[in-house]
Amino acid sequence: MPFDRKVKIAPSILSADFADFGREIQAIEKEGADWIHVDVMDGHFVPNLTFGPPAVKAFRPHVKTFMDVHLMISPVDAYIDAYADAGADMLTAHVEAGPHPHRTLQAIKAAGMQAGIALNPGTPAEAVRDLLPLADMVLVMTVNPGFGGQKFIDMTAKVRQIRDWIGDREIHIQIDGGVTPETAPLVVDAGADVLVAGSAVFKGGSVSNSSVYGDNMRAIRASLS
Ligand code: DX5
Ligand code: ZN
Repeated sequence: MPFDRKVKIAPSILSADFADFGREIQAIEKEGADWIHVDVMDGHFVPNLTFGPPAVKAFRPHVKTFMDVHLMISPVDAYIDAYADAGADMLTAHVEAGPHPHRTLQAIKAAGMQAGIALNPGTPAEAVRDLLPLADMVLVMTVNPGFGGQKFIDMTAKVRQIRDWIGDREIHIQIDGGVTPETAPLVVDAGADVLVAGSAVFKGGSVSNSSVYGDNMRAIRASLS
């Protein structure tokens, strides 16, 4: 997928029906999702547990767009090949997940995936500055990771700083947590181009009433114009 800075919506399937991931992915793509965001949690780095490589591999054939896998796990490196085998297009690790995030990004790229580096709300922008030459994306968390449906924490100053450091390099800035039609314009104005949204996309809809997903995504896009 060629690089561009057009705003992309990446629905988080953390807010989907866990008994019906295949049809949920098909429904949100039909309704206009740009990427599919997959939240992997280990019950250790974050206080919640979701799914591992076999589940992610099972999602793969349903994803026709771009599978964006957000690892909220520690350690990371031992699992990189498993997520490559599962078919991740982008694999994002947290800068807080271990002492060697530079090595982690090298390993993700060596495994043939795009590499993302995420930072929690309490982590300063400086923590990722020296990693930018290896990164295809910086994920700025706007909630403390672990759960969907939390309140947006304003990280616009951090986003602006990272956008400034990126300059004309082909590196996405992704926002994750509390993205709604109210908060999306703030982060896009600061320089973000990929918006993860879970509850704001899935609320009120279902696979049998999927036009609601489309309405919810259009409401986010409309807030930006
Ligand atoms: C939070 C996850 C998010 C989450 C976002 O730990 O990384 O991707 O699903 O959910 P909302 O959009 O509901 O805040
Ligand atoms: Zn996420």
